[in-house]
Amino acid sequence: MTITGLLRVQHSGFGRILEEMGESLKDFEGCAGEELERSLLKLLPALRVHERIEHELLFPAFIKHVASVDPGILDLFKGTHKEIHEKVDALQEVLKDKGALLSRMVTAADFISLAKEHFEQEEQTLFPLFEKGVPEDIQKELGRRASEYAHSRSERKHIGGPT
Ligand SMILES: [Fe+2]
Ligand SMILES: [Fe+2]
Repeated sequence: MTITGLLRVQHSGFGRILEEMGESLKDFEGCAGEELERSLLKLLPALRVHERIEHELLFPAFIKHVASVDPGILDLFKGTHKEIHEKVDALQEVLKDKGALLSRMVTAADFISLAKEHFEQEEQTLFPLFEKGVPEDIQKELGRRASEYAHSRSERKHIGGPT
């Protein structure tokens, strides 16, 4: 599988969890309970690996091979990664306060929509440019390395790349 193939599969997995989170927002009691925390615990480790694959494998190859495009385009995606982290932190903080029902809902809804939008943007802009500009053998080699990342989650703490 190519690297973008793998990233797309991961996006759709994240999409399902984000849907679940969205569903739990419809239920006030669910929202006040532990559903959001459970979804977030499922999502976060996989999201960290995904982001590491983008930063360490996808972005450098994009800059190298898609020379006709301004590499500054990546600043947008890197900026959104940072924003997603901030929203995750805000959500984890507000989830500690069982009474802050409305804040939980707003913060969660905010995170869900930003993450969904980000995945869509990557799939509609960055990935097609990458797939067009990067030789296929390299796309597959990066896909192989990316799946190694995905299978060595327990080691990632020691490697220290972007989280
Ligand atoms: Fe991303
Ligand atoms: Fe992504």
